[in-house]
Amino acid sequence: MNTIITGLQWGDEGKGKIVDFLTESADVVIRGQGGNNAGHTVITGGNKYVLHLLPSGILWDDKINIIGNGVVLDPVGLVLEIERIEAQGVAITADKLLISDRSHVVLPFHKELDAAREVSLGDQKIGTTKRGIGPAYADKINRCGLRMADLLDKDFATARITHRCAEANEVLARYDLTTFDAAQVIDEVYTAFERLRPHITNTIPVLHSAWKSGNNLLFEGAQGTLLDIDFGTYPFVTSSNTTSGGSCTGSGLPPTAIDAVIGVCKAYTTRVGSGPFPTGDEGLSDYLHGLGREFGATTGRPRGCGWLDTVLLRFACMVNGVTGLAVTNVDGLDAYETLQICTSYDIDGEIHELPPADRSAWDRAVPVYESLPGWKCDTTACTRYEDLPQLAKAYLTRLGELCGAPIAFVGVGPDRTQTLVAP
Ligand code: GDP
Ligand code: IMO
Ligand code: MG
Repeated sequence: MNTIITGLQWGDEGKGKIVDFLTESADVVIRGQGGNNAGHTVITGGNKYVLHLLPSGILWDDKINIIGNGVVLDPVGLVLEIERIEAQGVAITADKLLISDRSHVVLPFHKELDAAREVSLGDQKIGTTKRGIGPAYADKINRCGLRMADLLDKDFATARITHRCAEANEVLARYDLTTFDAAQVIDEVYTAFERLRPHITNTIPVLHSAWKSGNNLLFEGAQGTLLDIDFGTYPFVTSSNTTSGGSCTGSGLPPTAIDAVIGVCKAYTTRVGSGPFPTGDEGLSDYLHGLGREFGATTGRPRGCGWLDTVLLRFACMVNGVTGLAVTNVDGLDAYETLQICTSYDIDGEIHELPPADRSAWDRAVPVYESLPGWKCDTTACTRYEDLPQLAKAYLTRLGELCGAPIAFVGVGPDRTQTLVAP
């Protein structure tokens, strides 16, 4: 059984937690896109792990974890992450973590270029994580990027880094940002590369032989559908295909190998960074922040919060081919009296059941809500779907109906054990 786990909103849906939960019955966990802009939180055995580039399967023994060709990989950041997670008692051996030799390298000046672009956009800035994701993917598409395999040829890599560094410095100088010394960049990148070298390999045959021998493969999406470069709220998106197709192009496993797509969403909606957010609600944001919830795992920024938006989810289920929903953070709504679900948008007097492409239409989209009674009791101790209060089940059933996909899992707390399997 090969399953893709994909985010259905603007990221931070709880993908890491669901991947960790499903890893028990998987053999290989694969990241196929994004970079260390991702922040996936897993809580188990009283420990909290925040993963950026490492697949969430790394916390289990005897599972293979792959960073696929579609990922943009900051080697310096990954070495720091490995050290941090190892310091938490998790062994990361060369046979447990494989890095695709085709993955693209995020270079130190990509992060600064990311910052420069944000400055140049002024009040139109995207609110990126400043991890160099956009510039690294731009170099890939412009065919001037550097892949892990290219670092094996030091003469080639030195020439390419020197050339790109000079070009980057021209841009950075314009914004009075730090410029880079190419020799220092090469040194820094090679120190990290030498540390990662035992993990770097051609991951495609490894994946194919795992598939052919009947292993269970689990793909861990990063970001979410509304941040997808094609399907998201462009230009307020990330620079990769975060939707299920990205797992195939980002790993080398064909679409014919995929058996299921689990779409992860929160029981409400959150978003960090700029861009449209029709169901954003200050009252709900203040309430959830007051509970100490919804602060970003990567940047610590408070996430904007809002009501469940099934216009987005309906679209996300379509483009991802969702076969089952994992609805997390149901417990976040435990104390609310009345809950709102957005069923459509009213744009200039016309009802839309799918999101628009036109950016100005987003700003005129008025959510049409349906009210549902809250369950007003603690769900965090539920251990079976059947234990959920009747009104929580009714909320989930309505969510599934409006999105056109069945509920598969429900999250009632951040711990690995607080995941319920729907009947
Ligand atoms: P990801 O990027 O999709 O992996 O999600 P993040 O880890 O960035 O954000 C999800 C947040 O919600 C984290 O703080 C998780 O620990 C937390 N979380 C996930 N599922 C649940 C849940 O069902 N209930 C609660 N209370 N927290 C959850
Ligand atoms: P996970 O995997 C939430 C957002 C940023 C910004 C936009 C572009 O944890 O769900 P980028 O740095 O990618 O160029 O930023 O995308 N963003 C995320 N938001 N969760 C994430 O990842 C995100 N990764 C990027 O806030 O709005
Ligand atoms: Mg996250």
